[in-house]
Amino acid sequence: MKNFSVGISGIGSYVPDKVVTNDDLSKMVDTSHEWIVTRTGIEERRIAYQDMATSDLSTRAALNALEDANLKPEEIDLIIVATVTSDYALPSTACIVQKNIGAVKAAAFDLNAGCTGFVYAMITGSNFIKAGIYKKVLVIGGETLSRIVNWRDRNTCVLFGDGAGACVLEACEEGYGIISSELGSDGDNYEFLIQPGGGSKEPARIESIAKDLHYIQMDGREVFKFAVRAMENSSIRALELANLDLEDLDFLVPHQANIRIIDSARKKLKLPEEKVYVNLNKYGNMSSASIPVALDEAIKKGKIKKGDNVLLVAFGAGLTWGSLVLRWNKEDEDV
Ligand code: ACO
Repeated sequence: MKNFSVGISGIGSYVPDKVVTNDDLSKMVDTSHEWIVTRTGIEERRIAYQDMATSDLSTRAALNALEDANLKPEEIDLIIVATVTSDYALPSTACIVQKNIGAVKAAAFDLNAGCTGFVYAMITGSNFIKAGIYKKVLVIGGETLSRIVNWRDRNTCVLFGDGAGACVLEACEEGYGIISSELGSDGDNYEFLIQPGGGSKEPARIESIAKDLHYIQMDGREVFKFAVRAMENSSIRALELANLDLEDLDFLVPHQANIRIIDSARKKLKLPEEKVYVNLNKYGNMSSASIPVALDEAIKKGKIKKGDNVLLVAFGAGLTWGSLVLRWNKEDEDV
């Protein structure tokens, strides 16, 4: 292919089968199904079993994506795992996935951009292909948020869930695949969403554990205001960069954090509800895994057709944001 774009040649996902409902949570903290549904849209979430780590969920999602792409693991050149919940501080989760699937010739690294991680990783991976360095890149968003959530803090524990989604990126017909992207970060406000303990600033110590510093802390109201602004502005910028008008947009797959945040982006983009994929009611916020799991489900349900302009948009810790426009490059029968 002389002139080419980079598109998704295979997609897959995996969520653990253990379901935790809002009623289950109301037995652990002072909350209710009614409060959680009205404020967030979340009804239940999946939680990984004790013996499952992020690499295990990511491995299953990766194998599903490889099967969909009709590729063998040893054909993969690069693995990027977007995660905020890596198995270990080191090595990277990508190296463990590499071992699990037998992707013997791949380079591998993790990428942390909060819940925007998958969008950052897709753009990073696609640029390796555009630059002619690699041909087949496996991009995974995998998380076990349940391991860093404080199950005594009702402000955060009701929001998150575990899961993984994966895409294989390859060259595709010019004009299809990723046609624009936009990334950003507002480091001034990094403290609004933070896991303060366990890193070099506050290494794991008896004192840091006693102060719960190894759990996620969040200023929900500030993150909410930021999220609404970031989702709207980033979406508009990505559409402009793709030379598309609002009416050219066929489908939106947003980060699944809160239905009120998604609704405000949907209204700004003037989209009817049926053109926006929402599954946060079943899974909660799976951080980097939210978008690839949602995209996989949307495709499997036949909601996206070849030639559709699909917008992926996310926000997250950092505070980061990012979006990309895909012109869907696969025939329906390929899926
Ligand atoms: N059950 C019952 N009451 C609760 C709960 C709960 N689970 N959680 C908070 N409350 C209480 C609060 O204590 C507060 O009580 P107070 O008024 O007596 O102080 C009251 O409910 C209202 O709290 P608010 O924070 O104003 O509630 P809000 O409507 O803003 O909803 C929420 C809170 C859902 C957290 C919202 O702010 C939000 O979604 N923010 C964005 C969070 C987000 O998307 N984070 C993920 C970022 S992605 C990443 O990188 C991980």
